[in-house]
Amino acid sequence: MAGSSHVYQAPRGTRDFLPEDMAVRLHIEQAWRTAAVTHGFLEIEGPTFEHLELYTSKSGPGIVSELFSFKRSGGETEFALRPEFTPTLARMAAAQGRGLPVPTRWFSMPWHYRAERPQRGRLREFRQFNVDVIGDASPAADAETIAVALAALARLGLTADDVQVRISHRAVVNRMLNDLGVADDRITAAQDLLDKRDRIEPDAFAAKATELGLDPDAVTRLAAMGGEAVPASTDPATLSEVWSVPAETLTELVELREELEARGLLEFCRWDISIVRGLAYYTGAVWEIHETSGNERAIAGGGRYDNLVESFGGPSLPACGFGMGDVVLELVLRDRSLIEQGADLLPRPDAFVLSMTDENDSAVVPMLSRLRAAGLHARTTGKSTRNLGKLLKDANKCRARHAVILGEEFADGSVTVKDLDSAEQSTVAVDELVDRLGGG
Ligand code: HAM
Repeated sequence: MAGSSHVYQAPRGTRDFLPEDMAVRLHIEQAWRTAAVTHGFLEIEGPTFEHLELYTSKSGPGIVSELFSFKRSGGETEFALRPEFTPTLARMAAAQGRGLPVPTRWFSMPWHYRAERPQRGRLREFRQFNVDVIGDASPAADAETIAVALAALARLGLTADDVQVRISHRAVVNRMLNDLGVADDRITAAQDLLDKRDRIEPDAFAAKATELGLDPDAVTRLAAMGGEAVPASTDPATLSEVWSVPAETLTELVELREELEARGLLEFCRWDISIVRGLAYYTGAVWEIHETSGNERAIAGGGRYDNLVESFGGPSLPACGFGMGDVVLELVLRDRSLIEQGADLLPRPDAFVLSMTDENDSAVVPMLSRLRAAGLHARTTGKSTRNLGKLLKDANKCRARHAVILGEEFADGSVTVKDLDSAEQSTVAVDELVDRLGGG
């Protein structure tokens, strides 16, 4: 309507990325991508929405309650915005059938959508680094994925003082739940409840545990299950005692310990049976990365899901992997002053081209084109002044490395190059300019 205006806000739980925010996001994504590529993983992508059933069939109640689902106007088929990548990945692997090389190492950095209540560390739209190995049942594969997660965090400046991998195993958790009296058909619901334990009121927890058929004593024990984390260097006999489970149940964890040790990662790792994971498809080792104080929500979570590819109609292929979100990670990095000001992460121009005479004005655009064709980042000013001080201020504002000044000497085929970091200045022949600026 003419004359009327309305201020629109972004939907709750979403973010606008202005250039400086985008620079921070790219900084994180670059660490993710480099860590994955250097460990031999190949990048993939999938659709942002899938058939609703892909999630309702296997992901479990936690995620299903957070779906953004929809139908096409006039259509019957139900879709959902993807809340996580693992079902898509398993569907893609299943579609390859026997043609899929094993093991396959894939990574992706997709957008995800969850209809959660937005809060610190939780949004409705976020990016998540996914790293998965398909077709390898050995604990070495689990250790490889943990290694990628830690390599990405190390690239961002985080050390064993800042982050901890807390590792558990579904077989151990399930055995403990069985021992408490949880029936097999209620194990998934009990896992979901245990996963939410720290986020719901004790009374609500007790009520839900009672609904699962637990007596008051078992409810108390469930509320306390896990206790203190134990260093991952702990020998298996001690672990079996701490958790009161037979040593055989721990075979995979013992091997995982060896694999983590071989990769020099034990100092980052703890055994922690309170880690259950909210997703229903996990079958083996499960783990989360938390910042050491435990104040924030998990930075990453993952584990082994050996039946998912087959359950989507593919061959029987074991798999494991993790997802690492950008939201908690950015909070942790900012808390530790490990993110520069977004402006300092913006790309720096190699050359800021300035004309000091009327005759040279028409040479600016061809000069920019020439430098850009040589792969250099070249810009000019929007100001019309000939005041060099003001123009250099403009160049410094965007953190240009050099000012390329077209002055009187341009008529003789030279320009003045000022290094804006060292303030050194020299006359350079136009034919040598690209070399001087590091292009080629
Ligand atoms: P998840 O634990 O649901 O696992 O999510 C993994 C990570 O994604 C979390 O630790 C958190 O950093 C981030 N995340 C989850 N929900 C939100 C949210 N609402 N806002 C911001 N960040 C969030 C999975 O998604 C599994 N599919 C991971 C996986 C891959 N397992 C095997 N392969």
